Order: sequence, then structure tokens, then C-alpha cells
Amino acid sequence: MITDYLIIGSGIAGLSLALKLSELGSVAVITKKQKYESNTNYAQGGIATVTDKNDNFELHIKDTLECGAGLCNIEAVNKIVTEGPERINELIKIGTNFSKENGELMLGKEGGHSRNRIIHSNDLTGKEIERALLSKIAKTKNIKIFEYYFAIDLLTNKNLKVKKQKVKKCYGIYALNVKTNKVEKIVSGKTILATGGAGQVYKHTTNPAIATGDGVAMGYRAGCEIANMEFMQFHPTSFYEADRDQNSSQVFLISEAVRGAGAILKTKSGKEFMQKYDKRKSLAPRDIVARAIDNEMKKSGDTHVCLDLKAIGKERIKKEFPNIYKHCLSKGIDITKEMIPVVPAAHYTCGGIKTDLEGKTNIENLYASGEVTMTGVHGANRLASNSLLEAMVFSDSIYKSVSQQKKKELNKKKNGSEDELKKIYSDIYEWNDDGTINTEEWILISHNKKEIKEIMSDYVGIVRNTIRLERAYRRMEMMREEIRNFYKKTKVNVDLLELRNLVTVSYLIIYSAMQRKESRGLHFMQDYPDKDDRNFLKDTIVEKLKVKSFILKKL
Ligand code: FAD
Ligand code: SIN
Repeated sequence: MITDYLIIGSGIAGLSLALKLSELGSVAVITKKQKYESNTNYAQGGIATVTDKNDNFELHIKDTLECGAGLCNIEAVNKIVTEGPERINELIKIGTNFSKENGELMLGKEGGHSRNRIIHSNDLTGKEIERALLSKIAKTKNIKIFEYYFAIDLLTNKNLKVKKQKVKKCYGIYALNVKTNKVEKIVSGKTILATGGAGQVYKHTTNPAIATGDGVAMGYRAGCEIANMEFMQFHPTSFYEADRDQNSSQVFLISEAVRGAGAILKTKSGKEFMQKYDKRKSLAPRDIVARAIDNEMKKSGDTHVCLDLKAIGKERIKKEFPNIYKHCLSKGIDITKEMIPVVPAAHYTCGGIKTDLEGKTNIENLYASGEVTMTGVHGANRLASNSLLEAMVFSDSIYKSVSQQKKKELNKKKNGSEDELKKIYSDIYEWNDDGTINTEEWILISHNKKEIKEIMSDYVGIVRNTIRLERAYRRMEMMREEIRNFYKKTKVNVDLLELRNLVTVSYLIIYSAMQRKESRGLHFMQDYPDKDDRNFLKDTIVEKLKVKSFILKKL
């Protein structure tokens, strides 16, 4: 396949960008499952943006910077906050129905926000956004969505039959067409990674099964700079189920908006505890609340804490949180009367592929947007409901950057032409799986996957220390080698490809966590409990070659 623009991923980052790029040329969106399946589809709380007269950009910027604990890039924060209202209007224009009160957008509140500023669609905001974007795309020329296409690796200079380029460029991807089981090469003028996060490296995650960090792993293998992977955000309140099916990949989220509306965290025995940890109590930023819950559970030996919604009132619960109400009722809990059992769960990958303010990576013609990136917006901890916003704003920047470049190219009448793309297509090696076999050893894959999740949850969770990280590092390194050897001998399929990416991303998280010998934001080290601005007021940037030299040093 040849296309002007190739977007990998059909969440908010990919779809909002597809709509814009379709004005400039042909757009192919490939996505590994059904087109709606994405983290976006499960977003509950909403999108943070300044629309109220009692709010202003300075306050939203201040809240974001405070939450990011010194590591946010102020320019990036400024950008998402000030461009936010325009992007929200675009969503409204294409028909996204946000909740309203007396004809005005209804504004929710979440942890770390000093004002009510979260626009939402009850407690199913992401589903409504996906619906609106997909229905607009269905009526738009120039965009094709390819479901059940799994991006395996980026095509770069090393995939060219003749190695003539000095500058590292991206030419598209190899993708597995899951329905035909064939690997295809897709060549594109510009390639955009919009593959979302990596919550699936942990046992308990609010992320759906697709969130296996494929974009970060692909980017790493291709030579992208990967930044701040140690900052994995744990959401304080996922639904706790004693008899949860251990094979189910996702836990149900109880939105922070519930606490914003007045719900209070309590121990199982009904005692409030957040006042011991932060003056904002149940609405402190997520790193503080998740650590407080972890601490309370460790002290009491309880399996969970509880969320008491009584203060919200029955009518409001049913009207504003219908999905959460229905889910809990299906599990035998009437949340208008009973407390919800909750535990923290892996939720958001703050780190990712490093981009500039135009969404460009360090590889020419390769861009990235959404949760797969590290743009500098979130720093050491993401402020609630800033991620949908970041994805919209940076996808728009990619469109503007590509559009500018296209104008220049048209003037010069060279790069990116159809003929040139055809030539590149024939210059790229076909996928070669000679010497590989279809294996029946699927038990190895499921065991490895389980082991990765166990290592990450036990040693690289909310509270970390050097001994645990070193143990995790040694085990992950062994598993990585094992999986690499297995991959070389085996014909690819989705399970194997995901396993290869999960182990790579886990490794990057552990490696990054080991570099940061301090506690900041989401990264809490028992043996380095304080912030160390002198040595660590900087991003942790990982590149393949640098990791290699670290391994050599350790051995
Ligand atoms: P996603 O929406 O995750 O989309 C990624 C896409 O890439 C998917 O289509 C996937 O199938 C595809 N893909 C991945 N790998 C491959 C591959 N190898 N080949 C082909 N396709 C691939 N944020 C907020 O701001 N507000 C909220 O209220 C909020 N609530 C949330 C609630 C939940 C339960 C969860 C899980 C997250 C929530 N978040 C929220 C975070 C937010 O939803 C995500 O950060 C955001 O949706 C990410 O969008 P994205 O487009 O970058 O990625
Ligand atoms: C939530 O609704 O609590 C999730 C919001 C977010 O992750 O930004």
C-alpha cells in the first residue's frame, strides 16, 4: 500500500489528525482491532479546558505545572492550555455532545484542578468523542480506516535495498494484516504514531488490551528518543473485585469526577484518611492519593479502600454517572447507598516518544501524537483530563507543520510526489520470514506475559526502591533475550508481537526508573525519598545506543 499520510491508531490523536490531513492528501489509518477500540473509548472524566468566566489560562497552566513537579515544558503547557478552547470547538462542530446545564457546558472538577473546568459527556466522554470522530470520518473523502492491521516496525534507512541516505528517515511500516495473516509493507510520505499508552505492562490497569506500548517499542527500535518512561500514572480508584477473572485484561475505572462531585475516600471501616496526607484531601493530585491509598492498605492489610458517594445524592449520581452506577449495580453494589471498593491501577503512560512542539520526532518524516508521546506537557505527573486535550492540540500542530512543509515542497515540485513514493516502495525490502516456523508453544507467550506483569506490579509499582528495581532489571533482561530469540525463529502473530513490545516497554520503564535516584511526582523511591533538583531537574532520555552502553557497563 502507498499513501501520502499513514496514521497508526484510531483514538482521539489519530482520528482528529486524519480529518485534518485528508485536506492535504490520501490518509490511511491502520488500527489493530475494531476502529473504536482505544483508550480514548474508555475516557470518563472529560477534557480540561478554560471556558468559564471564573477561570483563566494562568490558573490552568499553574495547576498543570504544579502537578508536573518541575519537569513540565512550560511552552508545551502554555500551548495546550491556550489552544484548548479552539480544539474543543472543533469537537463540538463535528457533533460531539457534551453535557450541558442551563444551555452552558457543564464543568466538572478533578484532582489538582483549582477550578471546575472539565467538560464531559456524563461519564462516557471518550465513547462520545470516538463516535463523533468516526461518524465525521465516514462522511469524509480521502480517509480509509484499515481495521485489524497491526503495525510491526517502522521502515527506516536500514530497510532500503540501497543504503544511500545519511539522515535517518521513516518511510512507513511493516504491518500484519491480521485477517489474511500476511505482512504487508505500507509506504507513506509522512508516518504518524498515535498508538496510545502501555498500561498493559501491569497486572491491574484501567487500559484496554490494546494498550501494549507498541508505538514506544517500535520507536525505540527505530532509534527514536524515548523520554520519562519512569513516570507511570496509577489512578487511585479502580473498582475492586475480590473474585476478578484473572484473565480479564482491564479493570473498571471509577472516575475522579466522582470525587470532584463530592465523593470521599474512606477506609473499609468508614474512616476518612486523606486529611493525613494533603490539605486537598480526596481531591489531591493522583500521585499523592494513590500513594496514600497504598500506604493505608499496607498499614491495615486490607485489600482495598472505599469511596463514599453519599454526599453527591441519589438523583445526581444516576444522572451524572449513569455508567458507573450501572456497572457497580451489575456487581451487586448500589452506589447510592453503599460504598464502592476501590484500589489504584496503572492508568496513564506519562513518558513516551519525545517530540517537539510540532509533534516531530528525531526521525525525519515521523511524527507522534497522544499518549505515545512525551511532549513535555505532563512532566513528572499528568494533571487529570489533560491528555485528551494534549492529543487534540498536538495532532493539530502536526497538521499545521505538515501543511507548511507541503506548501514549500509544492513550490520546489519535488519530495513526496506519487512517483517518488512508488520508487521508495520498490526500494524497500519485502518482509522476509524465511527460516521461521509456526510454533505451538503458545504457553511460553502467556507465561512470559504473566511474568512481565507480575514483575512490573511487584517491583516497579507505586512505591519503588533500588533493590526491587535491580531485581526487576535482571529478570526483564533475561526475559527480553528469551523473547528476542523466540521472535527470530517464529512466524509473527498478534500475541507474539505484543509480547515483544511489552517486554521492551517494561525494560524501558525499569531502566528509566533506575536512572532517577530521587522521588518526584509519580516516581517514588524509598531509598531516595526527596526531590533532588540539583541532579534530576531534567528528563530521562533513552536511546538504543545509550542503553547498550549501560548494559555493557553493568556486565
Ligand atoms: P488511544 O486512544 O489509546 O488509541 C490508540 C490506538 O492505536 C488504538 O486504536 C489502538 O488499537 C491503536 N494501536 C496501538 N498499537 C497499534 C499497532 N501496533 N498497530 C495498529 N494500531 C495500534 N484522559 C483524559 O484526558 N480525560 C479522561 O477523562 C480520561 N479518562 C480515562 C479513562 C480510562 C479508563 C482510560 C484508560 C484513560 C483515560 N484517559 C483520560 C486517558 C486518555 O483516554 C488517553 O490518554 C487518550 O485517549 C489517548 O488517546 P490516543 O489517541 O493517544 O490513544
Ligand atoms: C477519570 O475520569 O478519573 C480519568 C481522567 C483522566 O485520566 O484524565
